[in-house]
This record gives sequence, structure tokens and C-alpha cells, in this order.
Amino acid sequence: MKRIRMTHDLSNLAALAPLAREITVRGVSHDDDRDALGALLYLAYLGGPDQEENNPDEGRREIDRTIDGAYGPFIASASFVASDPEGVVGASLVTRFEELPLLAHLIVHPRIQRRGLGAALALRSLEALAAHNERVARLAVHPESPARGLYARLGFVEA
Ligand SMILES: CC(C)(COP(=O)(O)OP(=O)(O)OC[C@H]1O[C@@H](n2cnc3c(N)ncnc32)[C@H](O)[C@@H]1OP(=O)(O)O)[C@@H](O)C(=O)NCCC(=O)NCCS
Repeated sequence: MKRIRMTHDLSNLAALAPLAREITVRGVSHDDDRDALGALLYLAYLGGPDQEENNPDEGRREIDRTIDGAYGPFIASASFVASDPEGVVGASLVTRFEELPLLAHLIVHPRIQRRGLGAALALRSLEALAAHNERVARLAVHPESPARGLYARLGFVEA
């Protein structure tokens, strides 16, 4: 399935909305987070138009591919994990693909979707990239993905 490429001009970032108090955001701990992120990735895409993983182990393998360089070098300084008291609930994972930063995965646990966490994580990543003097970020999205509206709202345009 062909994905739609979107780009973001990092000189023009939306304002960051505050997060719910019980949610904390931190960097990715390369080894300790992988199982939780794999389970989260599987659950986030489950039943959606671009589901490719059929269980948490396949989710874990996709996380390994992302962190270990299958989509270009992982940019740890622009990648974030969100947790609430029950565990890991979101992540934005950024790599450098064909020279430019790529939002490789933006995932939020279904139990707290549509409360602003996806936008907040994406913006954290974009702000971190801008702070490191990157000018543009990219992503690729499935044409039927509900995330397209979110990305447009954040300032991504189809490229
Ligand atoms: C995309 C995703 C990260 C958004 O996280 P989120 O925390 O729900 O995002 P926010 O609450 O910040 O923004 C929600 C917006 O996303 C869009 N959206 C997310 N889920 C949607 C759904 N099921 N149906 C319609 N729109 C949806 C809407 O634009 C929505 O805005 P609205 O609630 O005002 O209508 C999350 O839905 C997810 O993990 N999806 C599965 C993985 C995925 O598709 N990732 C993107 C791959 S490119």
C-alpha cells in the first residue's frame, strides 16, 4: 500500500498543550523499554488500516527494527516515551531516513487515545528536532489512517 508522505517546516511549530497530570514523558531507554513499546505498538495499530503486527512479539520486532536502524539511525534526542501509573501509554520514535528526520512511529494506547497525547508527543519530537537546528521533519501515513487529520492540524503538509 502506498503511503502518503508529509513534511513539516520546523520553523513554525504549534503551541504545546498541557498533558494530564498523571502522564510523564521521558526519553527512550533503549533496552528496558522495548517489550513495553512492542506491546503498545501492537495494540495501537490493532484493527486499524495499517495494522501489520499480529501480536506483541511482532510489535517488539518492529520496535527493534526502528531503534536498531532499519529506518535509518535512531534519533534518541527527539524520541519520547509517555507513561501513566499503569505503564507505557505512548511513544514518538524518530529516525534519520535519507538524511532527514522521520517520525517513524507515533503510537498511543487505545485506552487513552483522543485526549491529546499523540499531539503532545509529536510536538515534543518536533521541538527537540528544531532545537537541534533541523529544518524539516517527515513522515509517511496510510491514506486511510485517522492520524492524517492530526498531522494536518500539527502543521504537516502532503509533500
Ligand atoms: C494516531 C495516534 C497516535 C493519535 O494519538 P491520540 O493521542 O489519539 O491523538 P490526539 O488525541 O492528540 O489527537 C486526536 C486526533 O487524531 C485523529 N484521530 C485519532 N484517532 C482517531 C480515530 N480513531 N478516528 C478519527 N480520528 C482520529 C483526530 O484528528 C483526532 O482529533 P479529534 O479527537 O479532535 O477528532 C493514535 O490514534 C494511534 O496510536 N493510532 C494508531 C497508530 C497510528 O496510526 N499511528 C500513526 C501512524 S503514521
